Amino acid sequence: MLIAGNWKMFKGPAEAAAFSRELRQVALPDDVDVVVCPPYVSLEPTVQALADTDIGVFAQNCHWEREGAFTGEVSAPMLREVGVYGTLVAHSERRDWCGETDETAAARVRTALAEGLHVIVCVGETLAEREAGQTDAVLRRQVGVLEHDDNLVIAYEPVWAIGTGRTATPEIAQQAHETIKSLLDLPVLYGGSVKPDNARELLAQPAVDGALVGGASLDVESFAAICRAGSLT
Ligand code: PGA
Repeated sequence: MLIAGNWKMFKGPAEAAAFSRELRQVALPDDVDVVVCPPYVSLEPTVQALADTDIGVFAQNCHWEREGAFTGEVSAPMLREVGVYGTLVAHSERRDWCGETDETAAARVRTALAEGLHVIVCVGETLAEREAGQTDAVLRRQVGVLEHDDNLVIAYEPVWAIGTGRTATPEIAQQAHETIKSLLDLPVLYGGSVKPDNARELLAQPAVDGALVGGASLDVESFAAICRAGSLT
């Protein structure tokens, strides 16, 4: 079971360090792997504040080249240098706002893995795609560019459930996760309005291997509650 908190563009260095110091005081279940994903500038203070704990620190994105003329970008070796353990790739907000495609996503995943980072790659359909009956086709396309790797995890995040308070039912999540696993046999996290009060039911689904949590990961108590909900499910 893996619970990852995606902080998005929240928590600058000081706030990230304070949150991390608070989080390390909280009792988290031993059978749950816990990860936080701060913005770039907050990675190093978070790594330092969580030193000697089992909590992993992931970036939210990572370039597909190791270095070069890519203004504004950050590479996998740079992330490794500051002690980052892994990275998210192809979050739907990046597919939506930053021109991320299946091909650039696959390139980022390949390089990050080759450089020794763990990767959580995000897939998921929009509301229009779901209503048009295209969910399976979208997942086939997005997963089809990926290859199996022991350090790769997929996050199924239906775009219509992200930040909307509209969660996929456990049945919808289970079904999409089964589709993804039939394409690539990897752990699959669910993401999209996961909260302390719906986490247990979602995480109890057999094909749900964890959660990628946005809004509810910004508060220590609610994030810890979701981590506890993942225990023994
Ligand atoms: P949310 O975000 O939990 O706020 O819906 C999830 C995500 O975008 O990873």
